[in-house]
Amino acid sequence: MLAQLMPARDKAPMPDALLLSMKVNGEDVEVAAPAHFTLLEVLRYKLDLIGSKQGCDKGDCGACTVQVDGKAKLSCLTLAAQANGREVRTVEGMTAAHLHPIQDCMDKEVAAQCGFCTPGILMAAEAYLSKVGRAVSREEVAEALAGNLCRCTGYVKIVDAIVGASEIMANTEQD
Ligand code: FES
Ligand code: FES
Repeated sequence: MLAQLMPARDKAPMPDALLLSMKVNGEDVEVAAPAHFTLLEVLRYKLDLIGSKQGCDKGDCGACTVQVDGKAKLSCLTLAAQANGREVRTVEGMTAAHLHPIQDCMDKEVAAQCGFCTPGILMAAEAYLSKVGRAVSREEVAEALAGNLCRCTGYVKIVDAIVGASEIMANTEQD
């Protein structure tokens, strides 16, 4: 009975397992995974980093967004092998001693309802704001995060929070 309930990937033999090396949230990691595993599957099911969400699993929702070498990537469409030797950052790596300004602004704006989209939005927003390095407009945020869907339709507060964070981050860089 239990075998029937197990996902197909857990029942299948793993003759084609790969040994992958990557830096995840600043730590060197070696992990064995079937060659067909996506980065999202390795993060969630091999490394227990469940912050990145498995929403649509086909590139439509953005809930699985992580950063690979500083660029936002849909981890459900990225083979784990493509991240071999690269630096991966997930939402778990975002908070060190303090909340990141984007997290802080989302908290203050109450920009999460169920929170399912939040990790992907944080990863996409951080990659975007780091790339542009300045305060951004609401329109720019809406365009940059067009691939991140929020089922709770909390876009106004999410955009407000990211605009506010961009101003804080720009001022901090000038200090
Ligand atoms: S889970 Fe990757 S885009 Fe939806
Ligand atoms: S807060 Fe629920 S999906 Fe965005």
